[in-house]
Amino acid sequence: MTGYPLKAHNTFGFDVRAQFACLIEREEQLLAAVRDPRVAGLPRLVLGGGSNVVLTGDFAGLVLLVALRGRRVVREDQHAWYVEAAGGEPWHEFVAWTLAQGMPGLENLALIPGTVGAAPIQNIGAYGLEMCDRFASLRAIELATGNAVELGADACRFGYRDSFFKREGRERFVITSVTFRLPKAWQPRAGYADLARELAARGPGASTGQADDAAMQPTAQAIFDAVVAVRRAKLPDPLELGNAGSFFKNPVIDAAQFEVLKRREPELVSYPQADGRIKLAAGWLIDRCGWKGRTMGAAAVHERQALVLVNRGGASGAAVLALARAIQHDVRERFGVELEAEPVCL
Ligand code: EPU
Repeated sequence: MTGYPLKAHNTFGFDVRAQFACLIEREEQLLAAVRDPRVAGLPRLVLGGGSNVVLTGDFAGLVLLVALRGRRVVREDQHAWYVEAAGGEPWHEFVAWTLAQGMPGLENLALIPGTVGAAPIQNIGAYGLEMCDRFASLRAIELATGNAVELGADACRFGYRDSFFKREGRERFVITSVTFRLPKAWQPRAGYADLARELAARGPGASTGQADDAAMQPTAQAIFDAVVAVRRAKLPDPLELGNAGSFFKNPVIDAAQFEVLKRREPELVSYPQADGRIKLAAGWLIDRCGWKGRTMGAAAVHERQALVLVNRGGASGAAVLALARAIQHDVRERFGVELEAEPVCL
């Protein structure tokens, strides 16, 4: 296919093309693009950083490259700051900016690739925090009508790596901006094992240094720095090795199935959920099946985190999906557990 190259617009670095593409730097361009008679009836794909998508082939349709920029404090009351960022703002830069402005709250989500507008779609999360914990509202344009809508958390139906936009709302909206609520009564979230270990290794320098032991708690900047260090140590930089972060969601199973598995596999890594079900660490399951670091053609399982599939150079989306299916098969055979892909596969 001739057309617009998407290699730089998906973090796996798949060398595919779109029949049509339009860079959206202003909202008006969005409606003009989707109403262009040349693309009438064609499928559409909204791409931010392309960090949560597997493009298995050329896209015979219109790709909307969201590059809307801008960030500001829209409101402040005695309890919180309300900070709005445009959909095309790079997520990590936005997090760093909020901290630099003296507004903590997003530090656990440092270094996540992608854009602000993509963050609500899969409700990004890491090291004990999910985006929905800091979410106030978002603004989106419905492509069919051109209407702008303002959606609160209930309408977005956030779940674990899930939202309305991955289901009923899929490809129907473009998220133009997101507003976050950053509470002024900030509390560190430093309990996640990897993060706690990193903070401890950094010693008291990573803390406020107050005399009272109980008050010795890490600053938001210390958490930010520790998260960046942990991610750099475990997760490949998409600019160096194509990937889309965790390729599978951590599966959630019922207590009865868990009991049986745990007896068989005493080292099983698990997290009890509020509803009585149990979340398992997919990375551990995959690792146990011997997949960590293994390659299948140009696709591979990352050597330091088995949940991350990588493009070693020149892999196709189909090759990565073939690897994913082989992993799903082995995990199903050994543990009777289904792994669900986290990125959207097209
Ligand atoms: N583990 C292994 N082998 C591996 C990988 C993990 O044994 O190859 C074990 C670890 O030792 C640990 C457990 O599995 O006991 C969990 O591993 P880790 O802390 O690395 O987190 P994860 O559950 O694999 C999730 C998110 C990540 C997020 C981290 C930290 C999902 C699907 N993934 O990974 O998110 O950064 O927790 O919060 O929930 C992403 O979504 O793209 C992503 C990177």
